[in-house]
Amino acid sequence: MTAQTLLLGQTLRFTADPFAEGPAAASHDSAGGILIEEGRIAAIGQGAQLRAAHPQARVVDHGDALLMAGFVDAHVHYPQTAIIASWGKRLIDWLNLYTFPEEMRFGDPAHAAEIAGRYLDLTLANGTTTVCSYATIHPESVDAFFAAAQARGQRVVAGKTCMDRNAPEGLRDTAQSAYDDSRALLRKWHGVDRLSYAITPRFSPTSTPEQLEALGALWAEHPDCLMQTHLSEQTDEIAWVRDLYPQARDYLDTYEAHGLLGANGLYGHAIHLESRERDRLREVGAALVHCPTSNTFIGSGLFDMAGLVAAGHRVGLATDTGGGSSFSMLRTMAAAYEIGQLRGTALHPAQLLWLATVGSARALRLDASIGNLAPGMEADIVALDLASTPAIAQRSTRAQDIWEAVFPTIMMGDDRAIRATWVAGQRLV
Ligand code: GUN
Ligand code: ZN
Repeated sequence: MTAQTLLLGQTLRFTADPFAEGPAAASHDSAGGILIEEGRIAAIGQGAQLRAAHPQARVVDHGDALLMAGFVDAHVHYPQTAIIASWGKRLIDWLNLYTFPEEMRFGDPAHAAEIAGRYLDLTLANGTTTVCSYATIHPESVDAFFAAAQARGQRVVAGKTCMDRNAPEGLRDTAQSAYDDSRALLRKWHGVDRLSYAITPRFSPTSTPEQLEALGALWAEHPDCLMQTHLSEQTDEIAWVRDLYPQARDYLDTYEAHGLLGANGLYGHAIHLESRERDRLREVGAALVHCPTSNTFIGSGLFDMAGLVAAGHRVGLATDTGGGSSFSMLRTMAAAYEIGQLRGTALHPAQLLWLATVGSARALRLDASIGNLAPGMEADIVALDLASTPAIAQRSTRAQDIWEAVFPTIMMGDDRAIRATWVAGQRLV
C-alpha cells in the first residue's frame, strides 16, 4: 500500500471557465479534502467522507484555510530577483541601467545558483508552484535554474534568453551560438522530471533578423516546446521596432516573418496591439501574458483583458519579476483587478483566481497536469489563510460567501496569507 496524505480544509476548484460561466464555474466545499498519492491528487471531495474511506492516510488538517491549486506565474525573469523595485526608469532605460548589469553576473554558476534558489524559495513562500522564466544569455543560468527547481520537485519552464544586438558586451550571443546553446539546453533539460524548455528570444530589438530566423528554425525542429518573448509593451519600444524592422507590417510581424508565431508561443505584455496583431494571435491560438504590476511599475499601459478574453484569446497572468514589483500572485491579481477597473471591467474573484491557476496553466499548455484540483492532476496546492492580518480578518469575518471571504486576501494579502505550499504532494512551505 503506497503512502497517502489527506489534506483537510476548505477546497476550491474549477469545473468550467468563469469568464464564460461566471462564479458557478468554481466548486467550493467548506469542509473538503484532497487525497494525495505518489505526488498526484487521488481524490477530492468531502473531508469526512475521504477520511472514513481512507483511514490509513496521514491527515494534515489545514483548518479553515482555503486549499486550491498552487499559483502559476506565466512570465518571470528569475535573474532580476535582486533588482526588483529599482526606481525611476521606463523600459529601455530600466533594461540598460538596472537589468543588463545584473544579468551580466549570471555567467558565474555560483551567483546563478544562489539567485535561482532564492527566487524559488521566495515564490514558494508566496504560494507559487510553477513559473515560466527567462534566464540570461548564459547557459549556466539555465542549468542553475533547472537544477534548483528539480531539487524542489517543481514543474517549471525556462529558457536561455537570446540577444545578439543592442545589449552590452558580455551580454550578447550570436545567431549561431543562440541556436547551438538553446538546442543543447533543450536536449539536456526538456522533459526531464517536471522541467520543460522554452525557446527564448528576449524581444525583437535585441535580436538580429538572423537570430530570430535561427530560433524560428529551432522551434520548427522542436514544435512541442514553448517559445516565449515580449510583444508591444511600451510605445517607445514599438517605435524602435519599427525603425529596426522597416519591412515589418507591425511588431508581431517581426516574429511572424521569422517562424516565431505559433500556437505554442507566449507573448508577454501585448498591451498596444493593432487589430491585425490581435487577429493573427487569435487565429494561431497563441497565448498572451498579462503582467499587471510590471505594466504599472514601468509605466507601460493597461492590458485589455476583457476585450481579449471575449475575442477568444488564451490569457495567462504573471508577475514579470523584476519589472513587476512583487513575487506574489495575490498582489498580481490585485493589480489585474485595478487595471480592470481603470478599463471599466471589475474582474470577479473567481476570474482572478482562475487566471492565476488554470489560465496561466493553459497559457503554458500545462493545464492537463497543473493549475486545478482534480483526480490525476499533480498535487501542487496552496493553503490560503483568509484572515492573515488584522485588516483582512476584520473584513473577511463579514463575508456572506466564499467570494467575499477571499477577495480581501486577493486585494490585501501577501506571503503571510500562505499557510502552506505543497509541491507534488510534499509540503515545502
Ligand atoms: N522587454 C525585454 N526585456 C524585458 C524585461 O526583462 N522585462 C520587461 N518587463 N520587458 C522586457
Ligand atoms: Zn518580461
